[in-house]
Amino acid sequence: MKDYSKVIRTQSERTQYREHSTPLYLSSSFIFNSAEQSRAVFAGEEDAMVYSRYDNPNTTELIDKVCTMEQAEAGLTFASGMSAIFTTLASLCKSGDHIVASRAVFGSTHQILTQLLEKWKISHTYVELTDNSQWENAIQPNTRLLFLESPSNPGLEVADLSFLGRLKEKHPKLILIIDNCFATPYLQKPLTYGFDISIHSATKYMDGQGRVLGGIAVGQTEFIDELQFLLRHTGPALSPFNAWIISKSLETLHVRMDRHSSNALELAKSLEKHPKIKKTIYPFLPSHPQYNLAKKQMKSGGGIVTFEIEGGAEKATQFINRLNMIRITSNLGDTRTIVTHPASTTHSKLSKEERAAVSIFDGTIRISVGLEDIEDIKKDILQALEK
Ligand SMILES: Cc1ncc(COP(=O)(O)O)c(C=O)c1O
Repeated sequence: MKDYSKVIRTQSERTQYREHSTPLYLSSSFIFNSAEQSRAVFAGEEDAMVYSRYDNPNTTELIDKVCTMEQAEAGLTFASGMSAIFTTLASLCKSGDHIVASRAVFGSTHQILTQLLEKWKISHTYVELTDNSQWENAIQPNTRLLFLESPSNPGLEVADLSFLGRLKEKHPKLILIIDNCFATPYLQKPLTYGFDISIHSATKYMDGQGRVLGGIAVGQTEFIDELQFLLRHTGPALSPFNAWIISKSLETLHVRMDRHSSNALELAKSLEKHPKIKKTIYPFLPSHPQYNLAKKQMKSGGGIVTFEIEGGAEKATQFINRLNMIRITSNLGDTRTIVTHPASTTHSKLSKEERAAVSIFDGTIRISVGLEDIEDIKKDILQALEK
């Protein structure tokens, strides 16, 4: 069975009502049949649900589905993508440890590395995502983990996952972690390259309809178990309602990602030729510097197209304001096409130099290509460029 067929058929155990679709388990806690059972569960002698900060049938179903797609042993859900990233890094590192991370990480991940972890004496070295020798050379005796996004947000750079998997074989104590949010587990399966943990902002393509926040980390049981302590005792748990929404949405992930990708490729091809656009970036455009790698690692190019408009911030602002159908909002991975100006929003906390180092310029525009008809998407973008 294809993994997306398995995801459609995965369901928490049916209740006595024989429902076809999974019910929403809005319950903070779960009852025990006796004082003896409650003691045995707390003592770890018996496995049963206790409290929704720990787990819940809706979060468990969601984890099962993502583990199936990612070929992972275990997983945990979180209130948001950022709480998944923070809990992972904070759980696995202690004071004195060192992290090697790609410079091209999401703005809040950059804040965690530079502000929070530095404060706790966990240092980091930034490397160019696509420069294999920089990854290798940055490893120190106290390096605990390697962290990256691929494709990156919003520059859409693509890391060499096989190289990083081999690097881990040379340094078996290193933990290899990817934020797989842009690719989704349908388009890219990093654990099959030797990665230990794959993290997602489920807020994006997993929900896919711009409704709820969520995060998930999946990987080898030994590492996921290490994250559990911080999750249970500090409480960034995913609400059962959000888990129920995201779990149901995963049943259509493959269909949505196929269409996001075909719409995005067609848009990228038409923007590449446009005289008012300096540069168009999309992993499945032959002009992309890591085109061959993207083709090898990803089933299709995903739903994000990034381009740089001639004329910098002024023209970028005019372009965004002239869009009719496409809305300005700081989300991505929705059925509705979205425009974002990274320099003044998601990456505004970075200095101009830090932004330039990850290819974010004043004229950079990120389009999260939705599921509307591609002609409607192109029409809106082209009319805003023409004006
Ligand atoms: C690549 C990436 N990782 C993590 C996040 C954070 O996810 P959340 O907003 O669910 O906390 C985002 C949000 O845009 C993202 O794009």
